[in-house]
Amino acid sequence: MVDSRETLTIKAFVTGYPISHSRSPLIHGYWLNKADIAGNYEAISVPAESFHTFMDQLRAGTNGGFVGGNVTIPHKEAAFRFADRNDEIVEELGAANTLWLEDGLIHATNTDGYGFTANLDQRHPGWDKTDRALVLGAGGASRSVVQALRNRGISEIHVVNRTLDRALELRDRFGVKVFAHPLLALQEVMSGAGLFVNTTSLGMDGRKTPPIDFSKLKRGAVVTDIVYVPLNTPILQMAQKQGFATVDGLGMLLHQARPGFEKWFGRLPEVDDTLRKHIIDDIARHG
Ligand code: ATR
Repeated sequence: MVDSRETLTIKAFVTGYPISHSRSPLIHGYWLNKADIAGNYEAISVPAESFHTFMDQLRAGTNGGFVGGNVTIPHKEAAFRFADRNDEIVEELGAANTLWLEDGLIHATNTDGYGFTANLDQRHPGWDKTDRALVLGAGGASRSVVQALRNRGISEIHVVNRTLDRALELRDRFGVKVFAHPLLALQEVMSGAGLFVNTTSLGMDGRKTPPIDFSKLKRGAVVTDIVYVPLNTPILQMAQKQGFATVDGLGMLLHQARPGFEKWFGRLPEVDDTLRKHIIDDIARHG
């Protein structure tokens, strides 16, 4: 006999390779529990060469009856390629992180940029009242940040990167509001910027960070980092010592999860202090 509770449980996943480090099950588990929803969100390890099959089974409903899920490294680009319906954000980015089934088709969006701006909106309202933003780094994470800043209406987005070609690629992808610079131009580009975003791995897991002089930023500028382990990164600490407001990157992770939860489980959840503490405690336990 089929267990009726089992058939009523809404199931979603996060897949990546490796996936054991993912904090997404904790985040969604917290919201499911809080809203008392009969749902399940599980981590599934899928190597790159099996991802295509995973998507086929998701579409056919033969891998456990999932309604959708998240994809993370290394599958974000492949998710974009194999999804049936990409929204505008994904089409431009070339990478998806949130999937859901609709009429037998896999739909895809990318919520990283939403997570980035929603975190700033929650923790430093008014951060977007600036004409000039500086984004340090031009990797995968930088793309979503640049796209989100442009979509928010920031007039000039200056991408500074060690490898200039990658910054130029972002400029070509996202258009006339985006400017590319080499690392040497950092001080000059900082002049008058009201927002500084670190999207590089500098400071992650205790890696060394060169000193940064923020004094040319606009008065009242905000410095944020998408690295969240450690929570108060070396870049944020330097900015605080120099008198600037800072926003840590944990909220980006928490907020990017909200639209997916709403799609699969039918309710837009909140990022509250208890959830933040829950994840901070987990970071303290496991790093
Ligand atoms: P992700 O997808 O997480 O953004 P990534 O694609 O490897 O990761 O990008 C990492 C970013 O950190 C890049 O902008 C990288 O600069 P390069 O494009 O020149 O590689 C930047 N980065 C990493 N280590 C750095 C360092 N020591 N100094 C300056 N930039 C660094």
